[in-house]
Amino acid sequence: MDIVLATRNKKKIEEMSRILDGMGINILTMDDFPSCPEVEEDMDTFEGNAVKKALAITKCTNKIAVADDSGLEVYALKGDPGVMSARYAGENANDVANIEKLLSEMKDIPEEQRGARFVCCIALAYPNGKVETFFGFAEGRIGREPRGRMGFGYDPVFYPTGYNETFAEMLPEEKDALSHRGKALERFKEYIKTHYSEYKEI
Ligand code: IMP
Repeated sequence: MDIVLATRNKKKIEEMSRILDGMGINILTMDDFPSCPEVEEDMDTFEGNAVKKALAITKCTNKIAVADDSGLEVYALKGDPGVMSARYAGENANDVANIEKLLSEMKDIPEEQRGARFVCCIALAYPNGKVETFFGFAEGRIGREPRGRMGFGYDPVFYPTGYNETFAEMLPEEKDALSHRGKALERFKEYIKTHYSEYKEI
């Protein structure tokens, strides 16, 4: 059985391949379907973007497609940067610029109001239009300065609840066990296991 991953991001492809290893699933990527269009992430929720991408790619390939969308929500900023996480400081912003903007927006926010969460939504779409979604959340708080060199994105300023180190100070496997993406992937994997026979029929 084939599943197409609706991404060109090598890290995501490797991660998903590792999770699905040994389950008899053949992973295809957008590189196998060069004529499929890039799908714009212009919805106002993570779920909206993930579902939009998965549906566009199943339509274009006629195969089961999986897409994800993720980002950071800061409660004191009413959920920002949210779906704008990757481009918070501008269209081509990098991680350093995004973190700088976040810390500056939060400079007057006191310790007890610096709560935030990472959100990940994985969407799986079937060629018949049926869609399933899988969510994962990581609760924590935003620090005052970047710490650590691992990970990516907002990891250097995110302290998961119960820890005094940021995601960027943790080993990848420690972060995976706590992360929004790790939790969403676990739910996705459970679904694949229980619905495997359904997959085979398509
Ligand atoms: P996307 O899911 O690849 O669109 O990621 C959106 C953006 O959210 C990334 O560019 C990061 O800025 C942020 N983000 C998502 N997941 C993480 C994470 O695990 N750590 C830090 N930043 C993240």
